[in-house]
Amino acid sequence: MGQHILEICYLIASVTFIFGLKMMSNPKTARKGNMVAAVGMTIAILGTIFLYESSKTSRESLKLILIFAAIAIGTVIGWMTAKRVQMTKMPELVSMFNGMGGACAALIGLMEYHHNVGNINTLLPTVLGMVIGSVSFAGSVIAFLKLNGTMDKPIRLPSYNILNTIVLVGVLALCGYLIFSDVENSPLLYGLFACALIYGVMFVIPIGGADMPVVISLLNSFTGLAAAFGGFLYDNKVMLTGGILVGSAGTLLTIVMCNAMNRSLSSVIFGAFGKSSAAGGGSNTEGGSIKDISVSDLAVLMNYSKKVVIVPGYGLAVAHAQHIIHELELLLEERGVEVKYAIHPVAGRMPGHMNVLLAESNVDYGKLVEMEEINPEFDQTDVVLVVGANDVVNPAAKSDPASPIFGMPILEVDKAKHIIVNKRSMSAGYAGIDNLLFYDPKTSMFFGDAKKALTSLVSELKAMS
Ligand code: TAP
Repeated sequence: MGQHILEICYLIASVTFIFGLKMMSNPKTARKGNMVAAVGMTIAILGTIFLYESSKTSRESLKLILIFAAIAIGTVIGWMTAKRVQMTKMPELVSMFNGMGGACAALIGLMEYHHNVGNINTLLPTVLGMVIGSVSFAGSVIAFLKLNGTMDKPIRLPSYNILNTIVLVGVLALCGYLIFSDVENSPLLYGLFACALIYGVMFVIPIGGADMPVVISLLNSFTGLAAAFGGFLYDNKVMLTGGILVGSAGTLLTIVMCNAMNRSLSSVIFGAFGKSSAAGGGSNTEGGSIKDISVSDLAVLMNYSKKVVIVPGYGLAVAHAQHIIHELELLLEERGVEVKYAIHPVAGRMPGHMNVLLAESNVDYGKLVEMEEINPEFDQTDVVLVVGANDVVNPAAKSDPASPIFGMPILEVDKAKHIIVNKRSMSAGYAGIDNLLFYDPKTSMFFGDAKKALTSLVSELKAMS
């Protein structure tokens, strides 16, 4: 009877995951979607603890106390971290949470290996889950350090590809040995664990600059895959469903990011990318001159425009300027100006970063236009206002084969009549390269922190009425 109820719990949980994920695809329903999936996960966890037949022994009161203590500690840490994290630190947090999922899968593999020796059907998912989980964990820690700026330069060891291939071959050989050898308590299990961690580190350290979005989504899919192997191992449908959903969502995101960066998936998988980033490269801006624009001139220019396109980037998130930019949009629309937002798929530091940020200030979702759709509109645009974006509007991606971002599709803002760039200085963006757009005769720099600069612009526009 208990087993049947448990199956129903798992079914309900699986359905909530699917609906939750669907709801998360729209900022308006995303919060509810997250809650729906969380309720499903709670049902699945409680069902497993209290109803799973072969876990009777784990229902001894001491074990129950330990299980709930561990859940409580994890919940408090997760809750407090997520509550306190600043919006700009979200990508690092997501990367760390992803790494924790990988670490869980790795620990499951380490614990379960000895119970499954001799049974290829369960040993295979155990070992694969451990390896992929370890790679995901170690890779996510490096991604975390790269995103928070601790590791700001890609590290490319000499003969990197050879070293990486040796470690990968070592991992595969140890996997094969451990799966087919029937050796219990083999210390090689820990050797495999260490090699997988090393591979995770080596896989991510050479990747830098604008290629990070691809690796982040790939690590995401690894964690899902590792969890799905756990589902196979325990014959647990809800773990399998959850793992498959995360794995396939991560894989789809990887494809989207590859397209956004114009990189092939094979170059990602075999670790050949990041080469150009490590090699440096960049456009020669020596001798170029820039001009800036005063807030009053900018207010006049925008006030008399027919169409304005705002390009948000990472700096908008840093400055917490999402609310003031929405106010600017509403003010311009009151004066008959058509306003749209141009969204580059890798703007910011995590997939959908700009969508999430602008949804926070209630910008109408219909005004956010994807890159492919907005690019043909720039030549009919009077003013493009670039706020805290840099790499995603860098023309070097189209014109400079030596540039690390060469080949990445960009927002073609240089086609607009006037280009206004708001940032604090002439510093480079994430890819660490100069931007010729700032030297374009049509470009005027509007220097300052985005929140302060836009606040002064809004005041100036209000004063004009
Ligand atoms: P970036 O190229 O990183 O440029 C951001 C710009 O914002 C900087 O040049 C900075 O210049 C400016 N800025 C910083 N703080 C500011 C503030 N308070 N007010 C105004 N401006 C400020 O950003 P992007 O154009 O959004 O491109 C994203 C980059 O991150 C790409 O290279 C992408 O590949 C990479 N990346 C993306 C992801 C995902 S998944 N989206 C993940 C990892 C990496 P100043 O310092 O001069 O102000």
